[in-house]
Amino acid sequence: MALGIISGTSLFGTKLVEAAKERAVDTPYGTVYLRVATVHSQEIIFIPRHGKDRTIPPHRMNYKANIRAFKELGVEEIIGVTSVGSLKHTITPQSLVVPHDYISLCSIPTFYDNEIVHVTPGLDEALRKRIIGAARSLGIEIVERGVYFQTVGPRLETRAEINFIKDYADVVGMNMASEATLATELGLRYANISTVDNYAHGIIAEEALDYKAIVEAASKSRENVEKVLLKVIEGMGGGFHN
Ligand code: HPA
Repeated sequence: MALGIISGTSLFGTKLVEAAKERAVDTPYGTVYLRVATVHSQEIIFIPRHGKDRTIPPHRMNYKANIRAFKELGVEEIIGVTSVGSLKHTITPQSLVVPHDYISLCSIPTFYDNEIVHVTPGLDEALRKRIIGAARSLGIEIVERGVYFQTVGPRLETRAEINFIKDYADVVGMNMASEATLATELGLRYANISTVDNYAHGIIAEEALDYKAIVEAASKSRENVEKVLLKVIEGMGGGFHN
């Protein structure tokens, strides 16, 4: 069974799938550019969320095509890697968070446009535990729970918005809820590693936010994310795979 990995800023330029074959996979929702690699004898399907040329912004992502492409290629579990802002002083930039739940009150894509189906969304607990176990075994600190709040993007949030959501969630980002929900709709297991790349707007009063700084911060976490992913992949051959 192939493992799906979908990532944006946090794995820009990753060496993880360096030796991969590039492919374009057609789905009923559009064509998806992806890479297929073998790592520790395990097949990895890697989708760069922003597209081959990193030009697709969050509010224009073809989430349905991405998740459907995983399904077409026989993927049953997906690890999403996302860049987030922290809503809590205690979750500092450079932390890694494995969310256990999420809030997404608008912009919810669905495969069920023409029939009435209500899935119960959630993140896969067994896969979450494997990610946490991998980080622990490497001595990499990881925040083991957290509520992810999804916004639409591409803009960051206002101070008032952050002030409003900070009591209900731990991190804020633009992608995970859509991917997790669509994966659930297709019966795929999904869990996530979020790299905390900044404090959300106004959490630290004087801090100014800009995308360039967020990308730079994300690149600092890349190495740890890659190590954790490699350990999870290694575990799929035996080890702690459920
Ligand atoms: N808000 C939303 N998305 C993000 C942020 C943020 O502060 N940082 C990285 N992705």
